[in-house]
Amino acid sequence: APAPLVDRFGRVHTDLRVSLTDRCNLRCTYCMPAEGLAWLPRAEVLTDEEIVRLVRVAVERLGIGSVRLTGGEPLLRRGLPGLVARLTALGVELSLTTNGIGLARMAGQLRAAGLHRVNVSLDTLRRDRYQEITRRDRIADVLAGLAAAREAGLAPVKINVVPVRGVNDDELLDLVEFAAGHDYRIRFIESMPLDAQGAWDRSAMITADELLAVLGTRWELVPVVRDRPAAGRGTPPAEEWRIAGTDTVVGVIASVTRPFCGTCDRVRLTADGQLRNCLFATEESDLRALLRGGAGDDEIEGAWRRTIARKGPGHEINSADFRRPERPMSAIGG
Ligand code: GTP
Ligand code: 5AD
Ligand code: SF4
Repeated sequence: APAPLVDRFGRVHTDLRVSLTDRCNLRCTYCMPAEGLAWLPRAEVLTDEEIVRLVRVAVERLGIGSVRLTGGEPLLRRGLPGLVARLTALGVELSLTTNGIGLARMAGQLRAAGLHRVNVSLDTLRRDRYQEITRRDRIADVLAGLAAAREAGLAPVKINVVPVRGVNDDELLDLVEFAAGHDYRIRFIESMPLDAQGAWDRSAMITADELLAVLGTRWELVPVVRDRPAAGRGTPPAEEWRIAGTDTVVGVIASVTRPFCGTCDRVRLTADGQLRNCLFATEESDLRALLRGGAGDDEIEGAWRRTIARKGPGHEINSADFRRPERPMSAIGG
């Protein structure tokens, strides 16, 4: 077995998030401006061959066991089912985070290629509001995508909601009921200061405590005791509660008010081949340059281990010295 990818705080990294593109077909107001961003030139984006090589090194030499494909919007990547098939052939658990547009068409192919799970972003159930938040009139595509993913057996299908005060905070209970009624698993995410405009506003963030108070007005919530993670694995970001007397589980990803950096097991690869030891890292390591310079697997493994060795204790969103990463979330990978 490969030596674990361990940092100086003893955290073992077994989960890799790979961004397939920085482009997106939505323009969510909490993520990017209406005009979009300066997208990466195609030549700077890793090829399928390069991604497969890096993931193979991560699996064979570094102990990575699960990979999540993100973006930008990963379904925009051409030939995605082929890449999925090559990655699942490496023996990793493979999942995808998407805005759901195009998923209705692709869910069956992706499942056939070996994809295990999908998480889909959906912040509202109202068509007019969806258009206000995302600047596109596409909610029907997302709802069809969710259903297609469930029918294809990409289970459990999870829904990610970013609740924002005055935007969608009157729909929290409705969203839970929608998910429960359709057999999706819902999670609420505290908004993080990772938007391209630098407009993040702490007071607009719905905190985990607020969310739980709202859910508590209707339901009794019972904490889900987390399975003891497999040896050397961290705990996932979502804390979960079960609605008493039902099978419905609600998750909360409270990156800001209940940081989970102490059990982080994640490493990230951007679409342009930069390795990041943290979502909030202020430095990246250029694996693309190594790949394109003809580096062998030993060199790639070494660069990867050095990057993890430099990982800090966690993000500093709540500290006065907080510095945003140089790129927004859409370019880093969600
Ligand atoms: P599963 O638990 O495997 O279903 O996936 P996930 O919740 O890790 O992935 P998903 O892509 O759905 O991410 C949901 C939210 O969690 C996004 O807003 C991510 O940016 C955030 N998130 C994921 N990993 C991290 C992390 O390591 N640190 C922080 N702060 N946020 C994270
Ligand atoms: N803070 C928290 N979550 C965000 N997402 C996008 N931008 C932010 C942000 N600034 C969410 C998306 C998607 C998930 C990957 O991250 O809605 O569901
Ligand atoms: Fe890990 Fe950084 Fe996320 Fe904290 S913010 S959980 S250290 S990736």
